[in-house]
Amino acid sequence: MVSILGISAFYHDSAACLVVDGEIVAAAQEERFTRVKHDHNFPLNAARYCLSEAKLTVDELDYVGFYDKPLLKFDRLLETYLDYAPAGFSSFLKALPLWMKEKLWMPDLIRTELAKAGGEEDERAAKKLGKKFQWKLLFGDHHESHAASAFYPSPFEEAAILTIDGVGEWATSSMGIGKGNELILLKELRFPDSLGLLYSAFTFYTGFKVNSGEYKVMGLAPYGEPKYVPIIKDKLLEVRDDGSLKMNHKYFSYAHGLRMTNGAFDKLFGGAPRKPESSITQKEMDLARSIQAITEEVMLKMTKYAYKETGMKKLSMAGGVALNCVANGRILREVPFEEIWIQPAAGDAGGALGIALAIWHRYLAKPRLSPEAAGTWRSARAENKGRKSNVESNGDYQAAKKDLTAYADGMKGSYLGPQYSEAEIESFLQSRQVPYEKYSRVELPAMVAELLAAGKIIGLHQGRMEFGPRALGGRSIIGDPRSPEMQSAMNLKIKYRESFRPFAPSVLREKVAEWFELDADSPYMLLVADVAKSQRRTITAAEEARWGIDKLNVKRSEIPAVTHVDYSARIQTVRRETNPLYWEIIEAFRKKTGCPVVVNTSFNVRGEPIVCTPEDSYRCFMRTEMDFLVLETCLLDKKAQPEFREEKNWRSEFTLD
Ligand SMILES: [Fe+2]
Repeated sequence: MVSILGISAFYHDSAACLVVDGEIVAAAQEERFTRVKHDHNFPLNAARYCLSEAKLTVDELDYVGFYDKPLLKFDRLLETYLDYAPAGFSSFLKALPLWMKEKLWMPDLIRTELAKAGGEEDERAAKKLGKKFQWKLLFGDHHESHAASAFYPSPFEEAAILTIDGVGEWATSSMGIGKGNELILLKELRFPDSLGLLYSAFTFYTGFKVNSGEYKVMGLAPYGEPKYVPIIKDKLLEVRDDGSLKMNHKYFSYAHGLRMTNGAFDKLFGGAPRKPESSITQKEMDLARSIQAITEEVMLKMTKYAYKETGMKKLSMAGGVALNCVANGRILREVPFEEIWIQPAAGDAGGALGIALAIWHRYLAKPRLSPEAAGTWRSARAENKGRKSNVESNGDYQAAKKDLTAYADGMKGSYLGPQYSEAEIESFLQSRQVPYEKYSRVELPAMVAELLAAGKIIGLHQGRMEFGPRALGGRSIIGDPRSPEMQSAMNLKIKYRESFRPFAPSVLREKVAEWFELDADSPYMLLVADVAKSQRRTITAAEEARWGIDKLNVKRSEIPAVTHVDYSARIQTVRRETNPLYWEIIEAFRKKTGCPVVVNTSFNVRGEPIVCTPEDSYRCFMRTEMDFLVLETCLLDKKAQPEFREEKNWRSEFTLD
């Protein structure tokens, strides 16, 4: 047995992932345990959890992989600062102590930190004796880690690979080919030219937080007009036919400064950046729409080029920009790739998974589907088809492949985090004297569906926690999408976030084509498509003429709560094989109402990491105006709950994102 722990840390969204004999056994982001959103510290809690899932100790690991190369990153910082000296000197001085103290000493740091996962005694031993664990420590290249996370768990035997993010060591985007267990990167775009950093610059300028507010810019875009596209193309960048960029760095300061844009940028767009939390005007909406249009153009060019250059029929993607699901939907519709698959933890957290799989397939040269690893696929397939798999006897990848459907990837639906047993949940509820009703697994879906149909908003905590930024029915808040009031109710009373933000639908895979202009799996909510014409409502000329945020108040379809102002929806398709209880709840809702769709938003409030434990879920339930909470098969009614008292105002606990 070979066990590999992958780690990403010290930049944004730290995570750990455990791969045992090629199978992804567990993966989680550190933020879910520490309750600090995008926690960038060493993922000690996540590593501990991953080890416990496989009942391993730190000493029993064979390899530990870190997702990028700190020395190369330092090299980039140093060179960039020198290039821009003296302008870059102050930020260089600011960054230097951290690099000297932590990042350059990474091997020691990782050993010492991981020793803590083995208990205090180990930590002391590691410090005192420079304890040598038996495992080997390997460092990957940032974009190779993204590429490995994009390709190895994908359902494709061979595919083109595209990674796009802000920046790793030097690369900001890379293109390559994956075939069996081989992965080659053919081309890269280098810092400071970066689609991710360009998007982040506009995220900053429109008053949102860099590295987390990008989603809001994408959500805001449909309210605006692309009126800044000409000026962006004229002044800020050149987009080449292969999708590579040449940016005019006169307008940006991220290469040498501590902010994204500068005075020249402000002048170009008529003023200073919007102050966070101040009101959003038409200008921000138009800027959002414009940068989104540019991003889609670049991503379409990149993927068309990858299609031509690689000759591959499938595409797999990762890197933070691959979370731009509006662009992904267009790639699926407009680029001739037959299928696309996107790593659900596309950001840097997914690097932990990428490096672990890269060690297994590239460093150890293990085949893509060993008989053991095929187990993951086999079980999904066997459940799906309800017949005995022939893989079991011969472990043959080709034989398995015939029956694979797009969902049958190596990610287990991305349900890779902690799960809490019925017994653990009941003992938690009883210890707190929390009133609840216990249902049988068979009764529960119909009960939840009835509550949904009655307009109730429900917290759903069941099964393993999701890996990656989206909640997929394991830690979700769900509601009735047919209700015109649901969107603002959920935004304002439950999530305490901006009212313009759209909600996403979870739909039965079997019914997706009847309700949306999509007939493919989108298990990770990473594809956007329009609501089907047959489900749309004819709107009046007066409704059509509404402007900006006011567009929100128009009922555009039978499922207004998940229909964005441009009729688009960020779709999650649900299969029974991957998440049985969630599928059954939606199916029960369909039987009751005829609608195979529910609203699905992550189980958290604004600024809070998604809930992990039953305690996190109960706390979030009590702090908000959610009506019911499902903890596995226990159902909690808000009205029956005792008063929930907290010493301090919880809203001060989370920094707004
Ligand atoms: Fe990255």
